[in-house]
Amino acid sequence: MAKIVGAITTSHVPAIGRAIAGNLQDDPYWKPFFEGFPPVHEWLEKVRPDVAVVVYNDHGLNFFLDKMPTFAVGAAPEYHNADEGWGIPTLPPYRGAPAFSWHIINELVEREFDLTTCQEMLVDHAFSLPLKLLWPNEARCPVATIPVCINTVQYPLPSATRCLKLGRALGEAIASWEEDLRVVIIGTGGLSHQLDGERAGFINKDFDLAFMESLIDNPEWVTQYSNAEIVEKTGTQGIELLMWVASRAALPGKVRKVHANYHIPISNTATGLLVMEPVEQV
Ligand code: DHB
Ligand code: FE
Repeated sequence: MAKIVGAITTSHVPAIGRAIAGNLQDDPYWKPFFEGFPPVHEWLEKVRPDVAVVVYNDHGLNFFLDKMPTFAVGAAPEYHNADEGWGIPTLPPYRGAPAFSWHIINELVEREFDLTTCQEMLVDHAFSLPLKLLWPNEARCPVATIPVCINTVQYPLPSATRCLKLGRALGEAIASWEEDLRVVIIGTGGLSHQLDGERAGFINKDFDLAFMESLIDNPEWVTQYSNAEIVEKTGTQGIELLMWVASRAALPGKVRKVHANYHIPISNTATGLLVMEPVEQV
């Protein structure tokens, strides 16, 4: 049976792609951000995942305002990255795991999640950059991937409670897959940031740190807030933290914190990084 080895949740910002392309990892602006990752690389060496289920939000590359699914799951043999107009180099395609994807889709629909299924899917910086940060020295991402996309672009958005339930169902779906695969959940988005409007540049460190801490022992904490309240507390794009909620909820049982990093700002964004693993680890 498939086994979930843990979850990595992280922010995503297009400028990270430019920093990687320009080898700016030791630049004073970037160092505190990139320094968060070596402990995650060590953990990945230890837990050796075969598959990454990537919970992310598309920003208008694969889905646009004319057609916007609340939840979408990829079931393609391969996923291509595409430039989003920032001039950032695109990354090589990602290997899919279509049979596993269809199992997850079937199980989620069985659990009353009505999904969009994608047999072709372009993936944007929210998917590609975290994978590159996790496996920086590999020309191609070494694990198979399954994209799970949650709408944070076009209202109405799913609530934190709904995302928590999605994550739990996702965890059960993964654990019931017949192949002996080791699965890491990767959740990308947030933390507090607002890219435009009157509050452009808004960051809320206190809330971010409380949210990160809550995920370990009390992932329901954030469900006390409506999406409007989360936006008030974290900025318009801070709502991307819903990816962290779903990812955490996919982990079975109690979890422990393996590693955390928090740095302000990258671009206009508070960047967070958290690694969690189930306490009952083989
Ligand atoms: C930016 C874009 C994002 O998708 C994000 O989550 C944070 C920052 C940006 O354009 O700077
Ligand atoms: Fe984003």
